Amino acid sequence: MKDVQRIAIVDPSDSTREPLRNLLLGVEAVWLEAECSRYEFFIDVARQSCPDTVVIALDSDHHKAFQLIQQLTVEFPHMPILAVSARGDGQSILQALRAGAKEFLTAPVVLEELLLALQRLRANRTSSGNDTNGVLNGAARTDSLVISVIGSKGGVGCTSLAVNLGCCIAQDPRYNAALVDLDLALGDADVALDLIPDYTLADVAMNVDRLDMQFLRRSLCKHESGLSLLPHPVQMEDIALIHDEHLGRVIGLLRASYSHLVFDLSKRFTPTDLTAVRMSDIVLLVAQLELTSLRNVVRMLHTMDKEEGLGEKVKVVMNRVGAEDSDITLEKAQDTIGKPIYWQVPNDYKSMLGARNSGVPLLIHAPKSRVHQSLVGLANALCGKAPTEAPKKERRGFFSFR
Ligand SMILES: Nc1ncnc2c1ncn2[C@@H]1O[C@H](COP(=O)(O)OP(=O)(O)O)[C@@H](O)[C@H]1O
Ligand SMILES: [Mg+2]
Repeated sequence: MKDVQRIAIVDPSDSTREPLRNLLLGVEAVWLEAECSRYEFFIDVARQSCPDTVVIALDSDHHKAFQLIQQLTVEFPHMPILAVSARGDGQSILQALRAGAKEFLTAPVVLEELLLALQRLRANRTSSGNDTNGVLNGAARTDSLVISVIGSKGGVGCTSLAVNLGCCIAQDPRYNAALVDLDLALGDADVALDLIPDYTLADVAMNVDRLDMQFLRRSLCKHESGLSLLPHPVQMEDIALIHDEHLGRVIGLLRASYSHLVFDLSKRFTPTDLTAVRMSDIVLLVAQLELTSLRNVVRMLHTMDKEEGLGEKVKVVMNRVGAEDSDITLEKAQDTIGKPIYWQVPNDYKSMLGARNSGVPLLIHAPKSRVHQSLVGLANALCGKAPTEAPKKERRGFFSFR
């Protein structure tokens, strides 16, 4: 269990220990190593189980809890301690930290805060050289990559690129990738992957107040490529249930659970789209060598450049390069946009349409096609893998479309 954070908790009160335990059990990367209901027995539990992190609920007996924290700090100076108490006043927090706790959470514990605290504890432990664990699963992840795919006009290839990019990323066994269909009204990522989902973003939004990791993970369906999908609502009227603050919470939790997230956005620049874009590390703006699309790219870049930190995340992806019906060159497009074209995806109507009509990704329908190879290259580039992993011949080919 290399990537798992092994946790031991102590809380004499069943009524607070149960919910805390359930919360921890829902976090994929957490392994509940030991659970103890007596402060005085916990030091032995810690000696035997050597957990990565201990969680100590203070409220049954603050005096005994602080004594335990001090004892643990002496015996295991590098063991991160997370203290939990309903008394979130400055004095209680200070006392816990002085005793040796590294983090303090106010009960009842909220999942996001727990994940962040565990992440910080793990990061500290890693930086102090006591933990060489990987960073791939769950709460301990600090490097999840969030990619928004946004189109500059309808039919520009957003869904095609998002779905196939997601599948390419999911091929790496070290990653777990999820695609979120945020084209709330007209999205069709489920059709592109021929998945019939049990749950959609609307179910998640409706349950946002009692959302936990298990529920969230159950709401995604998994494609055979390894990519998980959270689809758009089935009923149009359910779109109204999804508020951008819900989405912020959902994305936060998904980040903690998946190494890579890909968002297929609408073309309407809605508040939901903007929330997704703001929470992304990379924004792929999909364009075509065509006047309306390029004009919209300029307008969208202009809008996003106005918001601090947003413009620099945007990378322009030129789709359908080499299509016969375009008479605008890449150089001209680049001049118009005023920003380098980050990636070129070749036109391949047969492979793309065939894959779409059969509801399978390119990696199954046309793995040797140049368009698939281009998307493998894009996935590698975004994930920081060496460009040599994309076939050289294909990459040369794209530039020959100029
Ligand atoms: N690189 C490409 N070459 C050829 N056809 C493409 C390419 N990318 C997308 N398409 C086709 O364009 C159409 C619209 O694509 P889609 O991904 O649904 O766009 P959007 O989600 O932006 O509305 C689909 O029929 C798809 O097969
Ligand atoms: Mg689409």
